Amino acid sequence: MNQLYYGDNIDVLKHSIEDASIDLIYIDPPFNSKRAYNVLFESVDLTDVKAQKEAFADTWSNVSYIDEMNEIADLNLGLYSFLRTLDHLNLSKGAASYLTTMALRIHFMHKKLKDTGSFYLHCDPTMSHYLKIVMDLIFGVKNFRNEIIWCYSGGGIPKKDFPRKHDVVLRYSKGKEYYYQPVYRPYSSGTVQRGRTQVKGKYYKTGLRQEGTPVTDWWIDVPKITSPTDPEKMGYPTQKPEALLERIIRTSSNEGDLVADFFCGCGTTIAVAQKLNRKWIGVDISHLAIRLIYDRLLKPYEEQAETYQEIKDNIEINGFPKDIAAAKDLAKKTKKGPFKFQDWIIEILLRGVSNPKKTADGGYDGYITFLKSDKDKGVILIEVKSGNVSVKNIREFIDVVNTENAAIGIFVCFKEQVTQPMLLHAKQAGYFEPEIFGQRYDKIQIITVEDLLAGKLIDYPSYPNSTFKQAPKARNLEGADNSTSLFE
Ligand SMILES: C[S@@+](CC[C@H](N)C(=O)[O-])C[C@H]1O[C@@H](n2cnc3c(N)ncnc32)[C@H](O)[C@@H]1O
Repeated sequence: MNQLYYGDNIDVLKHSIEDASIDLIYIDPPFNSKRAYNVLFESVDLTDVKAQKEAFADTWSNVSYIDEMNEIADLNLGLYSFLRTLDHLNLSKGAASYLTTMALRIHFMHKKLKDTGSFYLHCDPTMSHYLKIVMDLIFGVKNFRNEIIWCYSGGGIPKKDFPRKHDVVLRYSKGKEYYYQPVYRPYSSGTVQRGRTQVKGKYYKTGLRQEGTPVTDWWIDVPKITSPTDPEKMGYPTQKPEALLERIIRTSSNEGDLVADFFCGCGTTIAVAQKLNRKWIGVDISHLAIRLIYDRLLKPYEEQAETYQEIKDNIEINGFPKDIAAAKDLAKKTKKGPFKFQDWIIEILLRGVSNPKKTADGGYDGYITFLKSDKDKGVILIEVKSGNVSVKNIREFIDVVNTENAAIGIFVCFKEQVTQPMLLHAKQAGYFEPEIFGQRYDKIQIITVEDLLAGKLIDYPSYPNSTFKQAPKARNLEGADNSTSLFE
């Protein structure tokens, strides 16, 4: 079963993954500690709200790093000494804390690799030299295999520096024996014309090497995703191209092998591993990333029922409540924890957007947009209650839905809170009746957490959901809906 984890990868690494079980790990962590990763989704036309979510809490803070430094002291003294030295030198503010956070995680990833496994660490030139020492101290200098330079174009041009247009990918093996399947590029037209090529100092007639020329450690043939109309683009700011991951996965794993990405973002590694028939594990600390990956894996196969079901049955999602007891537990902890009950309901189960302008009562907690016609967007407001509710809450919510001129209002609470007067009031609010659909929808819909967990979907015009950008489809579809539910 393929595993998708929502949470901090250190917890997953320590508690959920077997030692020596993974064939290939690729990671593309945030490049430095100061950067907060916001997941930028397609714009949403609701007043001035930006559909932008803070993707992870401050895992990289200076406080947690002190504990991690002490943990490293028990695990790897050499690594600890190096990190302490950096800390004392105070070379760059935050670099020591960033590297400590990374070092602890890489230590555990190394443990999870099979003896024949390979590891790729994607980083940029501001951190690659420090990270290489961390890697040498964990994997051993003799297991360093390549420093791959991934060159690309696009983006800004500084006035007083050479434009920085490459990333660094450090490749290590766990031991002496490791899988390596060389990849080739077609010969350039010049080489073909001259009729010969040079490999390891020897000249070959072109015809002798049918595969092409071996790919070296500088990669200039994989373009970065820059264009907003790129069909791969998911709206995730640090998304890597599938061609990059395809090269890595083909080179260092076989069909049926287990591939893992512990900072998986919008799931490029996972999507490619799936396509190339590898088993996979993905982890991300952003719940929105997990939702995006799930859609990315399934959307392309919506019209191919058997494949769709097969992929779906093979994915286990961990880290979200799976039953009502866990949902109630999350509701109780929601004030203290980084992951809120409301966000789970709105962003994971209802696939909407949490309202960044949180209000006490008298507002709404989230929304979904949909296409009312080929041009106009309609809005569905969402209100989530985890505690006591009464008719008064329904009345207030009806007022908000009317004031905001929303098409529909969805009121979510636990089953035990729903009363007959609440249902009656909701019914009396009438219907949303868009002419072109020839159908009517309850204006105020009360839906329980129990229903949502059972996979029930809300009732609204079933155009493609226009709130979030969708993964491209495998084939052209007509009138497909947006009903990929995480826990159907
Ligand atoms: C640079 S992005 C990865 C992009 C990815 N390669 C792709 O193509 O979409 C880094 C990701 O690491 C995640 N992340 C940061 N700290 C994490 C942690 N401690 N555990 C798990 N994921 C984390 C962020 O939420 C972000 O999605």
